[in-house]
Amino acid sequence: MTTSTYAARRAQLETYFDRTAVEAWARLTSDAPVSRVRATVRAGRDAMRAELLSWLPADLSGRRLLDAGCGTGALAVEAARRGAEVVAVDVSPNLVELARERHAGLRLSGRLHFQVGDMLDDTLGRFDHVVAMDSLIHYRTPDIVRALARLARRTDASVLFTVAPRTPLLTVMHAAGRLFPRGDRAPAIEPVGEGALRRRVAAEPGLQGFALARSRRINSGFYLSNALELVRR
Ligand SMILES: C[S@@+](CC[C@H](N)C(=O)[O-])C[C@H]1O[C@@H](n2cnc3c(N)ncnc32)[C@H](O)[C@@H]1O
Repeated sequence: MTTSTYAARRAQLETYFDRTAVEAWARLTSDAPVSRVRATVRAGRDAMRAELLSWLPADLSGRRLLDAGCGTGALAVEAARRGAEVVAVDVSPNLVELARERHAGLRLSGRLHFQVGDMLDDTLGRFDHVVAMDSLIHYRTPDIVRALARLARRTDASVLFTVAPRTPLLTVMHAAGRLFPRGDRAPAIEPVGEGALRRRVAAEPGLQGFALARSRRINSGFYLSNALELVRR
């Protein structure tokens, strides 16, 4: 991996999600009223979460799932409700604390474990499924593919992830986004060309046992993200 670019970006993201945007992120992921721009993002994120969850078995009893870059933990909770043993990890201590507080009252029989750290940490263990919803969108394509290989080697069934598609529309929306107040701006997102991604996945030695399967684009106002599925052959 270009460890330096991955690590440098992870450090920027920790600062952004843990300090700059922690309140905006707490609000976006709650039911509290938000601006029209953010409401479109919230709706898109809800649709994306539902889509990713629909790609997992309905009954997750006995399965281990990693929510990689869990934020405030909405996907992790749904997976645990469906029976999975969930490890939810995020590099932002404040978001992990918020996730723990929000979900403390739920009776999930100790199946939901929030942790602070890097999603690529091997000590997190082995999983049947890994889901990285909008947590790799901030990394460059070579780093995304190497990260997928690191996740895949301890995954038995599937790795679900999202990327920001490289489209003229996204470019326009990024330009428009700069017109909004700082609090409404997302951290740097790295648009990914699907052809380049597929070529790199096919060429990555660590992904030889995996194939790209389903993909689905979700677009809702200012939210645009592409879900992809890597399945063990
Ligand atoms: C856009 S948020 C998405 C959060 C959550 N997946 C969701 O959809 O609500 C991206 C999250 O990924 C986390 N993140 C980014 N890089 C990470 C890494 N290398 N390891 C763990 N978490 C990471 C950030 O701290 C942030 O909380």
